[in-house]
Amino acid sequence: MTLVGCIGGGQLGRMLGLAGLPLGLRFRFLDPSPSAPAADVGELVVGAFDDPVALARLGAGADVVTYEFENVAVASVVQLGALPPYRALELGQDRLVEKEMFRRLGIPTARFGSLAETGLPALVKSRRLGYDGKGQRRLDADEVISDHELAEEIVAFDRELSIIAVRGTDGETRFWPLVENAHRDGILRVSRSPVQGAPQAEAEELAGRLLDELGYVGVLAFELFDVGGRLLANEFAPRVHNTGHWTIEGAVTSQFENHLRAILGLPLGATGAVGSSVMLNLIGGAPPSEQLLGLPGAHLHLYGKEPRRGRKIGHLTLVGADEETVAETLALVESAADG
Ligand SMILES: Nc1ncnc2c1ncn2[C@@H]1O[C@H](COP(=O)(O)OP(=O)(O)O)[C@@H](O)[C@H]1O
Ligand SMILES: [Mg+2]
Repeated sequence: MTLVGCIGGGQLGRMLGLAGLPLGLRFRFLDPSPSAPAADVGELVVGAFDDPVALARLGAGADVVTYEFENVAVASVVQLGALPPYRALELGQDRLVEKEMFRRLGIPTARFGSLAETGLPALVKSRRLGYDGKGQRRLDADEVISDHELAEEIVAFDRELSIIAVRGTDGETRFWPLVENAHRDGILRVSRSPVQGAPQAEAEELAGRLLDELGYVGVLAFELFDVGGRLLANEFAPRVHNTGHWTIEGAVTSQFENHLRAILGLPLGATGAVGSSVMLNLIGGAPPSEQLLGLPGAHLHLYGKEPRRGRKIGHLTLVGADEETVAETLALVESAADG
C-alpha cells in the first residue's frame, strides 16, 4: 500500500484523495482544523503546519509527502523532503523574487518594482501571503511603499488565462489546454476551457521554461494576462489549482491524478480535453443540489465546509453544455452566492 502525506487538508487535499483512492493510494493529511475537508478521504493529523512533531507524524511511513497550499514554511517541506521541491516554494512565496525570476528567464511581465518603475495608477501588492486579491490596493497618487510591498503596472488585459502543467520526476512535461478565468472581488468565479484562439504554444513554452528552471515535480499553475495576443506572466502556484478543477471531468486525466502520478514517479496521463468545460465556484452559498444536478452535463463538488461569506464551499463543472445552459447556471449560482 502506498501512503501519500499532504500538508493541508482543505478541498485541494480532499480532491487529491478522491483522485488517488482508485489508484490504490492511501492518504494522511496535516491540518490545524479537526473538521478539515480532506478528513473524509484519509487519516487526519491535527496540528500546526510548522510543528515539527506534527510534521513527523505526517511523514511517518509515508512514501511521498506533498502540500496543497503555497504558504507552507520552506523548512516543513525540507524536513519531509516533500514534492514539489522546496525551491519552487522559496521562489514563489515572495512576489518580488518571483517576478525577478520571470525577468531572468525572459518571461514577459507587467512593469513592477517601485512607483518610479510602474507609473500611476499602480497596483500595490504585499510581497508575501496574499491570496484571492487580499493584500492588494490600487494607488492613484504617489505614496511611500514599504519594503514588504511591490508595485505593479495595472494591465488592461483582454482576458485572464492560466495554464496547468505537470512535470514528472524524469523531466517529462505535459500541459492541459489553456483556461480562461473570470474573477470578481479578487476571487475566481468562472473558468472555461478550451479557449477560442488560445496562444497554447506560447503559454506552454513560457511555462516549460519555468518548470525546467525549478526542476519541478508535480502540478503547477501559471497565471497569465492576454494583452492583444501577447502573454504577460502574473504569478505561478506550485500546486493543484482552482483553475484546473474542470480537468476532473473535462480532461482525460485530472490535475489531481497527474499530480499524484508525478510525485510518485508513475507515468503521466493524457491531458487532452474531452469536451468544452465551464467551472463555476460556489462561494458563500450554493443553490439546492436538486436544482444543480438537473442541469445537463453538470458535475457537483461540495467540499463539506460550513458556508461563510466569501468562502469557496464547492464548485460545479458543466461539460458539453450549450451557452444557454451556461448563462442560466451562472445566474443560478450567482443568486445563491454571497460575497
Ligand atoms: N498588474 C495587474 N494589473 C491588472 N490586474 C491585476 C494585476 N495583478 C493582479 N490583477 C488582478 O487581481 C487578481 C489577483 O491578483 P494575483 O496577483 O493573482 O494575486 P492572488 O495571489 O490574490 O491571486 C488577478 O487575477 C487579476 O484579476
Ligand atoms: Mg492569482
